[in-house]
Amino acid sequence: MTGARHLYVHLPFCASRCGYCDFVTVVGRQGQHRAYVDALLDELALEREALAPRLESVFLGGGTPTLTEPRELERLLRALPPALEVTVEANPETVTPALAELLHDSGVTRVSLGAQSFQPGLLEVLERRARPDDVRRAIYALRDAKFDNISLDLIYGIPGQSTADLEADLSDALALEPEHLSCYELEAKPGTRFTHAHGAELARQAEAMETYFERVVARLTGAGYRWYETANFCLPPTLADGRDLRSRHNLAYWRGRDYLGLGIGAVSTIQGRRWKTTPRLGTYLTALVAGERPPREIEELPGSVRKSERVLLGLRLDEPLSLAGLESALDSEAVERLEWLGLVERGAAGAELALTDRGRFLGGGVTAELLA
Ligand SMILES: C[S@@+](CC[C@H](N)C(=O)[O-])C[C@H]1O[C@@H](n2cnc3c(N)ncnc32)[C@H](O)[C@@H]1O
Ligand code: SF4
Repeated sequence: MTGARHLYVHLPFCASRCGYCDFVTVVGRQGQHRAYVDALLDELALEREALAPRLESVFLGGGTPTLTEPRELERLLRALPPALEVTVEANPETVTPALAELLHDSGVTRVSLGAQSFQPGLLEVLERRARPDDVRRAIYALRDAKFDNISLDLIYGIPGQSTADLEADLSDALALEPEHLSCYELEAKPGTRFTHAHGAELARQAEAMETYFERVVARLTGAGYRWYETANFCLPPTLADGRDLRSRHNLAYWRGRDYLGLGIGAVSTIQGRRWKTTPRLGTYLTALVAGERPPREIEELPGSVRKSERVLLGLRLDEPLSLAGLESALDSEAVERLEWLGLVERGAAGAELALTDRGRFLGGGVTAELLA
């Protein structure tokens, strides 16, 4: 084995916690950014042999990576192994011209900006700090710093969001000409303030979300974007100087590749073994200061689970899934039934499987039915 070619680094610090978010985040603790970056680099040294000599992607996610003390963020970026694609997640209100320059000069090739919405009232419902103009300012600063690969995150299904609001969000996003867009249906994460306040409303509007999803897809594909994964869109090579703008890092997850994750709460999957590092900052720092691996939950993935995951994740893409070695994960009668219903299609004399557009709109429900 040559090692994982994809590296995820978790930067957990946030200015405040948005009510809908259940990611591993830490509010405050500005004084610990330096110690955290030290710990990340120590952890990298301990895990180095799990990585391939050359990486395809590095992804700094959060949390709010761009809230990390700039000197520490720069130190981290310069110490990480180089990769063909280096993405940093950014919150719009944190992106100043100086930060955009820092990212660019430190080897970042792609910025994923969490816009979520352009409607001030909906941003308030989400408890976001950024206003619509912060998103625009952030994009201009990134363009001035010569970034030519920017992704915008949008959330739809926000309580109180009309279809006109959704159309306005899509227009505002498209006007900024991002190379890539991720559009997520708002999920009620158990235990969050948001689910407590709005969970019942989200459950009531669940059916309307199918039409919202269809509008998102129609609008973005109508504007020329490729709907390459359930929630992800990018400009095709013909509109992007021949470049393939799909996220290399996320493609690796969907294609079942190995990846190493560093930082609190980070997940790694390598050679059939998955582990999740402790989400506790203090525990993480203490272990690494002592030169030890931080505590982790380890799961051995049996072949059957790995195959089912390959089917569930692979069918999210707009490219056919090769079934070689995956036959035992599929219920052949279900495949035939769903093919007859026009939800899946087989190619290459039955050796490949893909969802049709109708199947893609129904999403996870269809793929779950296909499993043996
Ligand atoms: C964990 S956030 C990190 C990025 C950054 N801190 C931000 O908030 O923009 C990554 C993305 O996940 C999406 N997300 C987070 N919580 C979600 C939820 N409950 N439902 C749907 N999407 C969610 C948002 O679109 C967000 O941009
Ligand atoms: S800024 Fe992003 S990571 Fe932080 S709490 Fe809000 S949604 Fe979660």
